[in-house]
Amino acid sequence: MIEVRNVWKKYGDQVVLERLNLSIAEGEFCSMVGASGCGKSTFLRLLLGQEQATRGEILLDGKPLPAEPDEHRGVVFQRYSVFEHLSVVRNVLLGLELPQAKFTGRLFGARRRAARDEAVAMLERVGLGTALDKYPQQLSGGMQQRLAIAQALVMKPRVLLLDEPFGALDPGIRRDMHELLLGLWRESNLTIFMVTHDLKEGFTLGSRVLVFDKVRVDPQAPGAYGARITYNIPLDHSRDSASSIHAAQAAVEGAARADVIPV
Ligand SMILES: Nc1ncnc2c1ncn2[C@@H]1O[C@H](COP(=O)(O)OP(=O)(O)OP(=O)(O)O)[C@@H](O)[C@H]1O
Ligand SMILES: [Mg+2]
Repeated sequence: MIEVRNVWKKYGDQVVLERLNLSIAEGEFCSMVGASGCGKSTFLRLLLGQEQATRGEILLDGKPLPAEPDEHRGVVFQRYSVFEHLSVVRNVLLGLELPQAKFTGRLFGARRRAARDEAVAMLERVGLGTALDKYPQQLSGGMQQRLAIAQALVMKPRVLLLDEPFGALDPGIRRDMHELLLGLWRESNLTIFMVTHDLKEGFTLGSRVLVFDKVRVDPQAPGAYGARITYNIPLDHSRDSASSIHAAQAAVEGAARADVIPV
């Protein structure tokens, strides 16, 4: 479904990503890990179409990725992305209204009721059914994050892009969110790319783990080389034993520190 072919991304003279190659089938759940600043969020922005690769190409269903974000790709950013001045239900309705109500900005009558029903159903799914008329600042961090996920999912995207979606959450709520996300993923044919700084989370959730790392480092020119995908590990949670998954995780943990080759 998604082909990344020799993609490079530079900002000015700084190479952030280099020589990325990747083939992802529909329905995969890709966890992406790597050191802070190595370009994970940048890669998500490339997948979203918010930014263009400096070199190389990204294909969706064999065709160049549309140069702008569209409804096929939903996104939950590293920081909360909900609208403070809109209630919970309006936050979710907004996406349904915008494309259909080009002239008025709102829907009316039966179409509005149908859209509202959809929004409410999605909010119930993420456990916010009793907070419909609250405003984001009245919600906890976990609730805001669930609202952001509902906002993305109500658009029924084919690809969901998540940038450290659970980073700010307590461990208990985090586990609930893992269950929620895995449930939504299993019942649809959703393809997920999720950045996490938590290796264990990446290995627990992903059907594939991608490790981003700078293989080449020049101390004289820190921007000369970018990060590459140094590990691309498919996982099958229904077949692979817990100990083999743990061994793969330990290998990545060890290698992330040892593999840097100075040039
Ligand atoms: N718009 C931009 N203009 C210039 N440089 C940028 C821009 N966006 C990102 N960068 C640089 O690209 C590099 C990668 O940034 P990015 O945000 O993708 O890292 P990250 O892997 O998501 O880090 P973190 O784990 O801390 O979120 C950084 O050095 C950053 O300073
Ligand atoms: Mg980031």
